[in-house]
Amino acid sequence: MQKHPAIIGIFGGIVGTVLVGIAVWLLIAYTGAYNVAASQQHFDPVRWTLDTTRNRSIANRAGGADISETAPESVLSDGARHYAQSCAYCHGAPGEEPAEWSRGMRPEPPHLSEAASEWSKQEIHWIVTNGIKMTGMPAFGAHHSANEIAAITSFVSALPGLTPDDYTRLAGRASGQAEQGSSTPAGSSRDTQPEDE
Ligand code: HEC
Repeated sequence: MQKHPAIIGIFGGIVGTVLVGIAVWLLIAYTGAYNVAASQQHFDPVRWTLDTTRNRSIANRAGGADISETAPESVLSDGARHYAQSCAYCHGAPGEEPAEWSRGMRPEPPHLSEAASEWSKQEIHWIVTNGIKMTGMPAFGAHHSANEIAAITSFVSALPGLTPDDYTRLAGRASGQAEQGSSTPAGSSRDTQPEDE
């Protein structure tokens, strides 16, 4: 008799807390109270939760990728070409603004010339391979080879130190040269690449 009220109290408290949690969760989902419009920023607490979850999740999972510390110019050049084709319109590039429509995304894709310095090579490799859910950052691992992902990673981690001229040279878009076709198979592109300035 003596012990029962305490046990019932603790048990009731736990069940009550869980029920309130479920009620808040369903209320948010069903009432449409949270505004999903990308024309507005997330509330600060929501943004903090998403950023912290993302940072911890990536830090826990990244690692073990085979990426050399220093990449030769040919690898950086491969990475730059892929970057120009698949990333620059969202993330910008040295001397290039991102596409205007990408400024309407929430979160806004950061300029990687600055933001890349906040991530290790292993983390960049993980992000490019797997993407980031609920942000618009795509996963490139399924349709890019291991070498291509490694080249993109080396290029992105070198990005913060690159000038617009470096980028133009590496991406092979020097004066007069036509844009690379988007269907050019990676790897074969270097066979036809003019090494001019
Ligand atoms: C359709 C737009 C889009 C494309 C294309 C895209 N990204 Fe992203 N990327 C994003 C968004 C949005 C984020 C921000 C995620 C966040 O803030 O949580 C992001 C985040 C990142 C980050 C983490 C940077 C940070 O501080 O948040 C890296 C690194 C990255 N992208 C690399 C790339 C690379 C490399 C490519 C091309 C192979 C690429 N992205 C293509 C939208 C894009």
